Amino acid sequence: MTSGKARTTAALSAFFACALTSVAFSQTASIDEKAQTCLQCHGEQGKAIDPSYPSIWGQHQGYLYLQLRDFKLGNRKNEIMNGIAQDLSREDMMALAEYFSQKTWVNLNQPRASEADVKRSETAIVSGQCGACHGADGVGAGTTPRINGQSHDYLLKTMEDFRAKVRTNNPWMSDILGTLQPEDLQALANYYAGK
Ligand code: HEC
Ligand code: HEC
Repeated sequence: MTSGKARTTAALSAFFACALTSVAFSQTASIDEKAQTCLQCHGEQGKAIDPSYPSIWGQHQGYLYLQLRDFKLGNRKNEIMNGIAQDLSREDMMALAEYFSQKTWVNLNQPRASEADVKRSETAIVSGQCGACHGADGVGAGTTPRINGQSHDYLLKTMEDFRAKVRTNNPWMSDILGTLQPEDLQALANYYAGK
């Protein structure tokens, strides 16, 4: 926990130090320039600087836009992203969602889940109907996110956030994950990360 916090603080200071001197959110900056700010955390080559930060390269446009909107409205709470989204207009958010959705999804080369985790996940996937929305492979579409190959630490964190109703921007996800055990979420994070 402490090291996570320390990392976040370090990333934040680095970000704000840069933001002071950058043109990131000025009215005249192009989308390419605005996206540079995002890359400071989400990765110059699409691999985020911290495993608890999500991959956004190649994520679906509709989903990316909705998350930015939810961060801006405060429907999804995260001290870093709430601050960043504050400065984005609707047009910025649409353009950034399009920009990142057109990038290629990055293979993080995470280990495949153990047989025990696969078995546990398959049961949870049937009971939670994950495939009905995220697709059998977890690739999602539109406003339903791709979850296969997403960073393990982020997947686990965000599923725990949904379950504990810390992430409240989709009550369905909270209800579904609320029916599962904490060990199921651990197995599912291993399963989808390593897919
Ligand atoms: C200082 C680091 C930092 C910067 C800069 C940053 N992000 Fe983030 N971003 C994060 C973190 C951390 C999260 C995870 C929040 C959580 O756990 O709920 C996140 C989450 C997101 C998500 C949600 C992804 C998902 O799978 O749900 C999107 C979309 C996003 N960021 C887009 C952007 C865009 C676009 C920019 C630039 C305008 C940006 N971010 C700049 C740290 C950053
Ligand atoms: C009824 C459709 C539906 C079902 C069933 C469903 N999901 Fe989701 N899931 C969604 C949608 C839509 C979102 C995006 C929510 C938002 O806008 O914040 C989401 C978000 C997520 C996220 C967050 C991804 C990110 O990048 O932040 C994870 C992880 C996830 N679901 C995993 C699962 C798992 C595991 C199951 C099965 C146990 C499941 N979902 C079942 C529709 C569904």
